[in-house]
Parts: sequence; C-alpha cells; structure tokens
Amino acid sequence: MKATKKVTRIGILTGGGDCPGLNAVIRGVTKSALDNGITVIGILDGFEGLVEGKARELSNADVSGILAIGGTILGSSNKGDPFHWPIADSNGVISIHDRSEAAVRNYHAWKLDCLIGIGGDGTMHICNKLTMMGMNVVGVPKTIDNDLEATDLTFGHDSAVYVVSMALDRLHTTASSHHRVIVVEVMGRYAGWIALNGGLAGGADLILIPEIPFSYEKVYQKIKERELSGKRFSLVCVAEGAKELGGDLVLKGTDIKRHDPKQLGGIGEIVARKIEENTGRETRVTILGHTQRGGSPTPYDRILSTKFGAYAIQLAMKKKFGRMVALKGNEIKNVLIEDAISKQKLVQPDSQTLLTARQIGIGFGD
Ligand code: F6P
Repeated sequence: MKATKKVTRIGILTGGGDCPGLNAVIRGVTKSALDNGITVIGILDGFEGLVEGKARELSNADVSGILAIGGTILGSSNKGDPFHWPIADSNGVISIHDRSEAAVRNYHAWKLDCLIGIGGDGTMHICNKLTMMGMNVVGVPKTIDNDLEATDLTFGHDSAVYVVSMALDRLHTTASSHHRVIVVEVMGRYAGWIALNGGLAGGADLILIPEIPFSYEKVYQKIKERELSGKRFSLVCVAEGAKELGGDLVLKGTDIKRHDPKQLGGIGEIVARKIEENTGRETRVTILGHTQRGGSPTPYDRILSTKFGAYAIQLAMKKKFGRMVALKGNEIKNVLIEDAISKQKLVQPDSQTLLTARQIGIGFGD
C-alpha cells in the first residue's frame, strides 16, 4: 500500500477460543469504522475464513444489539492457523501444511488495507507472522486466561472471574450444609489468574495454580486445620494446569490440529479423590469448563472491549500496523505485536494478589 493512500477497507476476525466481549469489540470496531467511511469485511471462523475466503461485509445493523451477547457473530476456530493447517488424507491421516500464501491472497483479493485480529497468544503469533509477510495488521488482545504480558488485562478475564466467584458462592452454602469439601476446576493452562482472582473473589480456602506446584500433604493439612478451628467444610479452587510438585499436567487428550495440542482437564477429579481418601471428608467436584467462556460480558469487559475496538480503528487510520492494543494502568496504549508475544504473563511469587490471598490465610498447597 502506498504511504499516501487512506485506509478505506479493513478486515476483522476473531481467532482462538471465544470469550465474553468479542462481540463488543466487533461492534466498537465496526461502528467507529463506518463512522469514518471505512468498509468492514467480517472474516468468518477466524483464520479459517482468511485461508478459505469466507467473509461478508458488516453493516451497522449487523452490530446493533450485540454488546451484551457472548460468543462472536463472526465465528471462531482454534484449528485454523494458516501456518499449521491440518489436511486429512483419504485414510483420515492428518498432516500439517503451510497455507499462509492463501491467507495473503485473500487479503489482497478483498482489497484490504488492514486486518484487525482479535485473539489471544496464538492469534497474536499468527498476526506477527502475517505482518512479516507484508500484511498490515492490528491486534486486539482477548483471553479469559489473562496471560498476555504486554497488557495489564485482556477482555474476557473479568467475565470468567465473575462466573467462578458466582459458582463458589453457590458451592459455599451447599459445602457448609453437608460439611463437605468441594473442589472446583477452572480454566487456566499455564497461568493461574482465573483460579487466583476467582478464588479470591469467591472465598476459596485453597487455590492450586500452575505456577505453584502443590503438595497433597499441604492440601490435607490445610483442610484438617480448618476442621480443628471448627470449619467443617472447605472450598478448593484448582486451575486445569495445576500440578503436583514433580508431577505432570493432567491431560484429557491431544489434538494435533491445534498449535498447542494439549487438551487439559481432569486434575479436579484427582484432587477430590485424594482429599476424600486421605482426610476422610466427603468430597465433591464441579468442573466449570466452558461456562467460563460463554454468556454475557460483565460491564467492565463491555467497556474495555468497546475501548479496545475503537482504539484499534484509530491505530488502523494512523497506519500504526504490526501493533497490538494494550491496557496500561487506566490508559489504552499500543505495543509491538512482536513484543507482546515474547513473554507470557504468569502469577509471580511477589504478585500483590497472591500475597493478599496468603495474608488472609488462603492455602496454595506449598
Ligand atoms: O485459552 C483459553 C482456554 O480457555 C484455556 O484455558 C483452555 O485450556 C482452553 O481455552 C480450552 O479450549 P477448547 O476447549 O476450546 O479447545
């Protein structure tokens, strides 16, 4: 694109796992783009649509009334990485191919001046590679896991934390009535932010996160200590990526079509069984799973998503390509996508939230 040409056509896609707030970003992007005379092409099913040429123009009517609706009107996929494209042969055997040329071809065929990619870590890696292939890209960070270092917060996280805290509130009363231990498994592959923030908000007694490998003895000890102080129930909030000291991640499967093939799940069941066997306390498990990804975004996420979407259009209009929108304190800023993907944001030992949780007596099994 010539330096003087104005941005008049943008493409927008939502990549990776969905989360509350995606529609609010699409709405923020589309409304401000149309207001500035920019045509918006909605690419369907994430990068799959970019490779396979599936898209439709978005009008004001398309984005009207979607602010509070979960999911994404564009569809998403965590299997459509153009650089890691699965193709099955006649025997169903899958091999991985590079279809990035097709993605670039469609970008030009649609006469796009910029692509707005909304997604998490995986999506930003793809956005960075497409930038290196000459595409004008602006990234918008989403993920319930909140594991992108370059932004103080990703939209979707607050909504997931809300689901966890609501679930813990409900489980609290039933655990207390029956004098039981209830283990709640939440999402969070490598980062424990959902378990930590959700557990803190919902009054968990033990929080097990990927960053702090736990010892079962310490878990039993905490439950017994509570009993001695007259608390005959306990709530344990465990991230799907939590693991025992010296142990491995608990997987329920693998899927080579995905960039990260590990499908996590099952640690909650194991923790619950071991607690029951070793403390004698009746124990139940609740797996929140995709309830954390679905449904309406919280007001905080609606506002953050709208700000992110509107700011992404400002970046596109200023031709600040190869950059990702980021929250820094209370300000929306931007960072190089390349820098955004260089480091994952994990719970650090000196995190104020972690220290606060420890100070009020929440156990981490360490
Ligand atoms: O990355 C977000 C996330 O919610 C992870 O915490 C979880 O492991 C993953 O998505 C599950 O993805 P799916 O079930 O869609 O494959």
